[in-house]
Amino acid sequence: MFEHKPLPGWIDAERFLSDVVVHPGAALQRVAAAAEEAGLPRIEVAPNAGKMLKLLVQLTGARRVLEIGTLAGYSTIWMAQGLPADGTVVTCEFLPKHAEVAWANIDAAGLGEKVEIRLGPALDTLAALEEEGRGPFDFIFIDADKENDSKYLDWAVKLGRKGAAVVLDNAVWEGAVLDPGMDPVNAPGIVEALRFLGSHPRLDATVIQTVGAKGWDGFALARIT
Ligand code: SAH
Ligand code: DHB
Ligand code: MG
Repeated sequence: MFEHKPLPGWIDAERFLSDVVVHPGAALQRVAAAAEEAGLPRIEVAPNAGKMLKLLVQLTGARRVLEIGTLAGYSTIWMAQGLPADGTVVTCEFLPKHAEVAWANIDAAGLGEKVEIRLGPALDTLAALEEEGRGPFDFIFIDADKENDSKYLDWAVKLGRKGAAVVLDNAVWEGAVLDPGMDPVNAPGIVEALRFLGSHPRLDATVIQTVGAKGWDGFALARIT
């Protein structure tokens, strides 16, 4: 796996900000513990990033959220906690083990009624959602296999409403976007996605660079115009 390289100060500051400002609730703290216990990779969004997703869901007034990449349901729960009473999240995951752990976590968080986990390769699920006439989605979070990032963005434009927000995780990848040879598996897909974001006639986008326990990375935010 590609190595992320946090500096000790970034980890400490992330914990400080989480404790002093972010205040992840008991349900979210349990998800992190359950992910660890189940031996899942600890690549969920940081608490400060999860809280940003929740606030963005609230600020955009989103009612229908689409997520690509569920893992243990950590980001799913953050976003679901920002939804109004009739709001829903559809989240895509292709590993049954991850979906199983996520389902237990989402249910334990009291959000079982709001969240639908769709098992299978996300590209198949996205085609099925279009086929089923699902959407349009108000908020889309992309955080799965980086090779397919630009395809996921293309689907986001198809399934999102005008004015919808799109967030893409892992937009800087330890700076490998400047030197894709650092990670030939993931970096080319991320660069392609950034170029897609920056040139698509219906996407208006920015990228915020981040540092923390997962190293140096970035969050892209776009509006579908
Ligand atoms: N959003 C999560 C982290 C997701 S990690 C959080 O912040 O809590 C990425 C997840 O995407 C993993 O669980 C992985 O199994 C899943 N994934 C990878 N490739 C996929 C694909 N093609 N289709 C669906 N899910 C995929
Ligand atoms: C990895 C994947 C992620 O989505 C992330 O946020 C961090 C790391 C990984 O595959 O290494
Ligand atoms: Mg990620």
